[in-house]
Amino acid sequence: MKYLYLDEIDSTNKYAKDNINNLSDMTVVYTSKQTAGRGRLNRGWHYIGEDNIYASIVLKPSSEIKEVYSNLTQLLCLVLSQTFEECGVVPKIKWPNDIRINKKKISGILAESVISPEGRLEGLVLGFGVNLNTSKDMLDEIDQSATSLNVETGKYTDMEIFLKKVLSKFCLLYNKFIEEGFLSIREDYMKRAEFLKEEISVRVFDKIYTGIASDVTDKGALKLTDNKNREHILLIGDIL
Ligand code: BTN
Repeated sequence: MKYLYLDEIDSTNKYAKDNINNLSDMTVVYTSKQTAGRGRLNRGWHYIGEDNIYASIVLKPSSEIKEVYSNLTQLLCLVLSQTFEECGVVPKIKWPNDIRINKKKISGILAESVISPEGRLEGLVLGFGVNLNTSKDMLDEIDQSATSLNVETGKYTDMEIFLKKVLSKFCLLYNKFIEEGFLSIREDYMKRAEFLKEEISVRVFDKIYTGIASDVTDKGALKLTDNKNREHILLIGDIL
């Protein structure tokens, strides 16, 4: 893993995408000050102070696009959860890749890809934000219910130490994951999954599916059983 620290940047994901050809495989771009962070579904990602994680991993697994790459956010989500657990908290995974503690979001992941005009995959960018050390006032400014590790544990956590723990776990599982896919982490992911066996609604583009979240498939998709007993396999979506 190579580390590239930037004092200040609009978005580590944007930086990684803009500079994809100058960044090698397994480079982590991170900053203490992200001024225009991006979130999923065109949302933003709030800046809540310098002792938090704003990072993007650049990956160049191959030049063709493979299905398993879209599951890499779930691998990152799992290793982030395991790192939180080492800090004494109990995180839950909100499919596909949000991490929450007592229903409050503590980390988010945004995956983006850079494709050349010829259709070649130039690289993947796995961006993640983690609320490590912040005040309740800062958290209140976030438009969804959020928490941070210091609020949960009452302790300060060093940003770089936490980041390195996450990345070393990620590297350990990465090659197997690329070979075998989501199945290689399914059991560990499922242990932490929220909402299973509960009735939920999931937005997929402009359609909303409601039903019981019955399972997560070997490929990381959410299986939803509706009230007519029809099964929906959702590859992407947002649990409402
Ligand atoms: C989400 O939950 O909506 C995803 C949030 C992802 C935020 C991170 S912070 C570092 C990286 N750079 C960005 O602009 N976004 C991601």
